Amino acid sequence: MTGNEATTAHDTRPTVTVIGLGNLGRALARTLLRAGHRTTVWNRSPGRADALVAAGAVRADTVDQAVAAADLVIVCVLDHDTVRRLLGPAAGALAGRVVVNLTSGTPQSARELGAWVTEQGAAYLSGAVYGVPETIGTPETFVLYSGPSHAFDTHSEQLELLGASTFVGTDAGLASVYDIALLGGMYGMFAGFFHAVALADSAGIKAEELTELLVRWLTGAAGALPGFAREIDSGDYATETSNLAINAAGLGNILSASRAQGVSTDLLAPLHVLFRQQIDQGHAASSLSRAIESLRAASRPA
Ligand SMILES: NC(=O)c1ccc[n+]([C@@H]2O[C@H](COP(=O)([O-])OP(=O)(O)OC[C@H]3O[C@@H](n4cnc5c(N)ncnc54)[C@H](OP(=O)(O)O)[C@@H]3O)[C@@H](O)[C@H]2O)c1
Repeated sequence: MTGNEATTAHDTRPTVTVIGLGNLGRALARTLLRAGHRTTVWNRSPGRADALVAAGAVRADTVDQAVAAADLVIVCVLDHDTVRRLLGPAAGALAGRVVVNLTSGTPQSARELGAWVTEQGAAYLSGAVYGVPETIGTPETFVLYSGPSHAFDTHSEQLELLGASTFVGTDAGLASVYDIALLGGMYGMFAGFFHAVALADSAGIKAEELTELLVRWLTGAAGALPGFAREIDSGDYATETSNLAINAAGLGNILSASRAQGVSTDLLAPLHVLFRQQIDQGHAASSLSRAIESLRAASRPA
């Protein structure tokens, strides 16, 4: 190990290890270092640790050394397969540690990884980061964690340094379930944005010109979501505000106009299908939020 010469037997700083020094991993390590942690780092391409070592981090030569250096081991690499491949040779050093995996993946791979880490005698917390490297360590970032609650409680102060942390449950896959749901919502919003820009573009309106208005409109429209959520959770879709029939007609107009302007309807046409399915089942007067029932039906085995 090289780096931080101040490390002695009298060093009482809290210890942490960060494995993976990509854009996010470097920001995590920098934040912990600045907060006064004895921070050990490892990365496949060692040069990415140089600036951190110059700032006081300890460079581990192997993953094994990195794991052995701290009770709290944060991993942030490309994907879950890479995490498993990296930790495999360090399995002997894992017992008694808490592994916090901030690498994105699926709920299933998080559970498999969690089970393997647990077999090695360590605790496994899965984390989903909502922020970018520049906002790590600021109130703009939040992180969802799932896994054994004792592991979260033990290290909550350290984890809070990275961003506002929320524990969502003991199932190792749960943080990933939230993650894919939140990111799915984001991509749906992007789909709407792309369609809107293509439509405006077909009439000679610049993307930037439209976007200023679109952001104002979508920010307001997001205010409807908690009401939709209440309807979905209660199963009571009665509305006097905006029903499926009127929204299907509105979306139908958008699709016709898009075709007329030569704009693809690939992104929005499937939404119209959901509205139509509910109307065909007799729910024209129900709230727009009832479209969720068509998605639920599609996810049930036949
Ligand atoms: N960046 C963000 O804003 C953000 C936000 C939320 C979540 N995330 C998640 O955080 C994770 C890392 O993202 P990032 O933006 O930091 O990515 P990145 O900058 O591309 O870094 C990827 C990291 O993975 C390492 N890596 C890739 N393949 C490897 C292998 N075969 N063996 C060992 N190490 C390997 C890279 O090592 P080398 O340096 O040697 O290539 C690097 O440390 C991803 O799962 C991402 O979805 C990122």
